[in-house]
Amino acid sequence: MDVFDKCSMNMGPLGQYADQTEGYFMFPKLEGEIGNKMLFKGKERLIWSLNNYLGLANHPEVRKADADAAAKYGMAYPMGARMMSGQSDLHEQLERELAAFVGREAAYLLNYGYQGMISVINSMVDRKDVIVYDSEAHACIIDGMRLHFGKRFVYPHNNIDNLEIQLRRASKMTEQTGGGILVITEGVYGMSGDLGKLDEIVALKKKFNFRLLVDDAHGFGTMGKTGAGTDEHFGVQKEVDLYFGTFAKSMAGIGGFIAGDKKVIKYLMYNMRSQIFAKSLPMPMVIGALKRLDLIRTRPEIREKLWTIVHALQNGLKEAGLDIGHTQSPVTPVMLSGGVGEATQITFDLREHYGIFCSIVSYPVVPKGVILLRLIPTASHTLDDVSYTIKAFKEVKEKLDNKVYSEKMAEV
Ligand SMILES: Cc1ncc(COP(=O)(O)O)c(C=O)c1O
Repeated sequence: MDVFDKCSMNMGPLGQYADQTEGYFMFPKLEGEIGNKMLFKGKERLIWSLNNYLGLANHPEVRKADADAAAKYGMAYPMGARMMSGQSDLHEQLERELAAFVGREAAYLLNYGYQGMISVINSMVDRKDVIVYDSEAHACIIDGMRLHFGKRFVYPHNNIDNLEIQLRRASKMTEQTGGGILVITEGVYGMSGDLGKLDEIVALKKKFNFRLLVDDAHGFGTMGKTGAGTDEHFGVQKEVDLYFGTFAKSMAGIGGFIAGDKKVIKYLMYNMRSQIFAKSLPMPMVIGALKRLDLIRTRPEIREKLWTIVHALQNGLKEAGLDIGHTQSPVTPVMLSGGVGEATQITFDLREHYGIFCSIVSYPVVPKGVILLRLIPTASHTLDDVSYTIKAFKEVKEKLDNKVYSEKMAEV
């Protein structure tokens, strides 16, 4: 057997559909300036699929800061990994400002959120330690755990009674190994929009000895009174031991950071292999992130605009009889009943007839019979966008209930 045989015989769970889906459902190309309206296949569409929560991707001050930094430094500086030759005052300044913003002693930059998270987990635990994690944890958390030589226990999504059971098992185990326990949850779950129950999780610290790592990719910049994240929303910043944020969503950039106590961040600086052995973030990303952070801190009206759109969209969808699950964040899932065929027809209808572009998920990512359309409201949307979309979704649901899509499937 040739290792390349799988490329034609077994393309994997997503790749198996490549012939039917590529370019439309998967790897679609959105063109034009990033915003509420963009081009897809040459036509303007209303876009609800970008995690550009605060609309900073195309903010004039952000664009200028990025462009000026690129003109001054190019994309190469500083060369090398932070530890070897890629350190700079501005990298350190960004870390100080991020730490202060999220209420921690220190922070360290990560070149990509995904790899960074893998490395945070990998460096925080050894074979004596036990990880306890939520069953809906993001792929980067799962990959981080794959590098873990010790035990891990999973609790069903947000089931705190079960988390307690897993913590009891984990404590028994660490009594034998002499290790510690790391609990990992997300702040905002990116598909369903519900929040990790950080208040209930930290309450368990009274009964069990563990450290808590929160992946707040979707919460940083959107949640909490100042936008400092889901732990600020719950008022538990002191009890969340390690806080992870990415620049890829609210900050509309690339990279991320981990924040916590000074001594822990120092330890991570010297142990995170994905950062020690990889090139440092280029200067335009660092200067661009400083600008974005400044806007998040000083222009609360941007976040207020986001939440105006979120509330209008979520209340309107609910009033129109649509099921948006239990979201408590900007992430807005719309749940419909149907199979892959109906999901395909709905996507065509939304994109081609209504000019609405959103992400769609069907079996096997969600249970059989469920279609999840995910809308990401942003500060760059308007209330007109919202009312148009609510009307469209109401009509789509009526068509689904009246079997219009299953009849279309029969015609194909
Ligand atoms: C929950 C969560 N964690 C981590 C990441 C990875 O972040 P990045 O895109 O910065 O690599 C994502 C991005 O999709 C995410 O949703």
